[in-house]
Formats: sequence, structure tokens, C-alpha cells
Amino acid sequence: MASHCNRQYFLNPRLSLQLLALVGTLTWHILVTESATSIQLRGEVGGNVTFSCPTAKQKLRFLYFQRGEIFVNGYYESKTALEIAELAWKNTIMDHDKTTMHMYNLNVSHHGEYQCHFQYIGSSATHKQIIHLNLTANYSKPAPTVHCSDENHRFSCLVTCASHDGYPVNKVTWNVPGSQIWTVLNSSEMNDPKTMMVNSSSTAYFNCSNGNTSISCSVGNVSSDVFSVCIPIGPPPVPHSPVIEAICAVVGITITMLVLLLWWRCKKGQRGAAAVDFRRVNGCEEEATVHNESNEGKEAS
Ligand SMILES: *[C@@H]1O[C@H](CO)[C@@H](O)[C@H](O)[C@H]1NC(C)=O
Ligand SMILES: *[C@@H]1O[C@H](CO)[C@@H](O)[C@H](O)[C@H]1NC(C)=O
Ligand SMILES: *[C@@H]1O[C@H](CO)[C@@H](O)[C@H](O)[C@H]1NC(C)=O
Ligand SMILES: *[C@@H]1O[C@H](CO)[C@@H](O)[C@H](O)[C@H]1NC(C)=O
Ligand SMILES: *[C@@H]1O[C@H](CO)[C@@H](O)[C@H](O)[C@H]1NC(C)=O
Repeated sequence: MASHCNRQYFLNPRLSLQLLALVGTLTWHILVTESATSIQLRGEVGGNVTFSCPTAKQKLRFLYFQRGEIFVNGYYESKTALEIAELAWKNTIMDHDKTTMHMYNLNVSHHGEYQCHFQYIGSSATHKQIIHLNLTANYSKPAPTVHCSDENHRFSCLVTCASHDGYPVNKVTWNVPGSQIWTVLNSSEMNDPKTMMVNSSSTAYFNCSNGNTSISCSVGNVSSDVFSVCIPIGPPPVPHSPVIEAICAVVGITITMLVLLLWWRCKKGQRGAAAVDFRRVNGCEEEATVHNESNEGKEAS
């Protein structure tokens, strides 16, 4: 990544000239004093961080930050802010105090080592300070999925815990009481090739012969809720499908309406023609048709 950016700088003649003008100052100075201790900085992906370069209270000729051979941002007595801004990383800004730099919108590519170089006016000694930026990103709360089976009366469960978009790499750990017979089948930590953020997951096998227990899983300092494994599989639950429920309702209403219709026709038949009474044989269906026939008979006559 660094070498890629590097090459880009030197392929562009205008940029490389400017870079030499800015950074080159260092190359021709023999006397470099390097601070013995490096500064450790912490930042969060998506957040901001402030780089501070410790200097004495003397006027500076220049102070700049670089990453490998790449200029990040800085201050030069002999350059305007505009000239410098043209080369500086767009997510950085130098503070008015000339010794601190703010970096915004951090992503994993910003993780790593930086250097601060500076020189006081009236001295040819260049000072160098190493600054290490350590980035973290919080993993999502691990989400468990439990699949149990009861084959040949050997009850067991497969449990997977998955957590997304954390940094740096962290494995899933399991918090399981000692009474359980269980084993981790596999675990994986996958980097997103673009963002370098990590997805971490693990699958464990539980032999349920010691009954059910409450467990949880963690990635870094983020833990899942406590959940149960090896809950005995009861009788199959009554299906609660909305489709089935709708069909049941339609069938129920239809039957009710049919019963009401027949009952209504029965009553009407009893009240009506005594003449057809003698032809009533086998209940209402029969009677209903008979009634119709008698109506037709009346119309015809
Ligand atoms: C980072 O800085 C920007 C600009 O000052 C600000 O809007 C944002 O809230 C900051 N982000 C965090 C996580 O502090
Ligand atoms: C679970 O462990 C017990 C005791 O070790 C063993 O007898 C049984 O076969 C195991 N069950 C399964 C499903 O592996
Ligand atoms: C882990 O093992 C389980 C069960 O054998 C399987 O379903 C899953 O795909 C495996 N995961 C990985 C990342 O290999
Ligand atoms: C990580 O998980 C997120 C959310 O499920 C998914 O969108 C992304 O593709 C995953 N990345 C990798 C490298 O598996
Ligand atoms: C990280 O931020 C830099 C700007 O500071 C940007 O050029 C780069 O595309 C970002 N990388 C990702 C993966 O978002």
C-alpha cells in the first residue's frame, strides 16, 4: 500500500518536485537526532486523532509528519499554507500551533507508524520522532444461531457465533460451564479486502447428554446475550402459518354459511306449501329441489 502511494508520487513529475522541495530538506542534513521513545496514539475507525510532535519553545523552520516516505502534512516557514495543502493528505489539517496535526475519518489504512521531522531556526540539526497510531474498531455484538438434532436418541446441537466489522483480528471465545461436553469445530476471521475490517465467527458442537445449559460467546470485549443450548426437543409445535390460518378461516366461514343457508331453507320449507309435504323424503336438500319444482309448476299453470 505504502509503496503503491510512493510510486504514484514519483511518477508525477510535478508532485515529486514539490515533494523534494518539502521533504528533501531532510535528506541533505547529516545531523538527525531521533527521540529514544516512540509515541503511542490510539484511534477508532471512523473517528479522529490528533498527532502532537513534542518540541521546545523555539521558532521552527519546519515540522512535518510523514508515513514511510510519504508526506502527510506539516508546517514550513518558507511555504504558504496553500502550497503545503496541495500535497497534504486531504483528511488532515495542521493546527495553528504548527506542531500538531488533526486526522479525520480514520480507516484501517491509517493504522501504523508515522514520523515527525522538525528543525529549529538557527540550527542545522533535524529532530525525528516516531509516532505509532493504533486503530481499533468495535466488533458487532456476536449473534448466535443454534441448530439441534435428535438422531437415534443422541441429542446434540451446532452453535455458530458471528460478529462483524471489527479491528484488529480477534477470535470468537466461548463461555461454557464445565459440565458440558462440547468442542469447537471451526472458526474463521475474514478481512474485507477493501476496508480491511474483520468478520469473526466460530461453530461449536454440543453433545447434550448432560442436559441444557446457558452459554455465551465473545469477540474481544463484546459479548453475546446469554442463551440456552440443549433444550429438549418437545412434541412438534402446532403450525402457525398465516397461510394455513387464512385457509382455516375461509373453510370455517364457508361451512357456517352453508349451515345457515340450509337451516333457513328448512324453515322456509316448513312454513310454506303443505302441498309438498308428502314429497319430503330425505331431509332438506331433497325438499329444497321439490320446493323449486312446485314453484315452476305454479308459473307454468
Ligand atoms: C471528527 O471531527 C469532525 C470534524 O470536526 C466532527 O464532525 C466529528 O464529530 C468527529 N468525530 C468523532 C468521532 O469525534
Ligand atoms: C455424548 O457423550 C456421551 C458420553 O461421553 C456418549 O455416550 C454419547 O454417545 C455422546 N453423544 C453424542 C451425540 O455424541
Ligand atoms: C464450520 O462448521 C460448520 C458445521 O460443520 C459448517 O456448517 C460451517 O460452514 C463451517 N464454517 C466454516 C467457516 O468453515
Ligand atoms: C462481513 O459481514 C458483513 C455483514 O454481514 C458482510 O456484509 C460482509 O460481506 C462480510 N465480509 C466478509 C469479508 O466476509
Ligand atoms: C481511507 O481514507 C483515505 C483518505 O484518508 C481514503 O483515500 C481511502 O479510500 C480510505 N480507505 C477506505 C477503505 O475507505
